[in-house]
Amino acid sequence: MPIPFTEEAVHYVADRVRQVQEALDRRLALENVSYYAPLGGDLDEATFIRAVLEEADCDLLLDVNNIVVNSINHRYDPVAFLGALPLERTRYIHLAGHEEEAEDLRVDTHGRPVGAPAWDLLAKAYARLGPVPTLLERDFNFPPLEELLQEIDRIRTLQEEARPVSGNAVEEHSVRQAAYG
Ligand SMILES: [Fe+2]
Repeated sequence: MPIPFTEEAVHYVADRVRQVQEALDRRLALENVSYYAPLGGDLDEATFIRAVLEEADCDLLLDVNNIVVNSINHRYDPVAFLGALPLERTRYIHLAGHEEEAEDLRVDTHGRPVGAPAWDLLAKAYARLGPVPTLLERDFNFPPLEELLQEIDRIRTLQEEARPVSGNAVEEHSVRQAAYG
């Protein structure tokens, strides 16, 4: 569920993340979520995410489609938002398609092909980060396998353009996201 972008919430969430990291003895990667009902707060979203990750000293799971969806629903510049995130903490990337309910309303369904703005943002992320391991999320409205493999190939091409790929950097399956996707 969305969290108010406040200093108090930063400390609350970061404290919880630190507890889990200590219990598991490993780092967590937190995902930038899509949300539809802003809960307010005195911080902007990118500042909030940066503050949580720095205070908890954890990593980032970068979902480029969530940035696209939020940038339309909450009216901000997706490229500027990407640049404001602590990208140096990125360990993994999510890519997906979404539903266009209206010109100013997108829903993060994982049920459509990846859209042009998400491809563009993915290329920009690779240009900054190199070929970070990437998951193509597709949860329903499954097309013929060939169409999914074309999207996988496009991910690989963008990764190769960013930097030579070493090993298998693409996972060819979709996972159900427990809460946020
Ligand atoms: Fe995701």
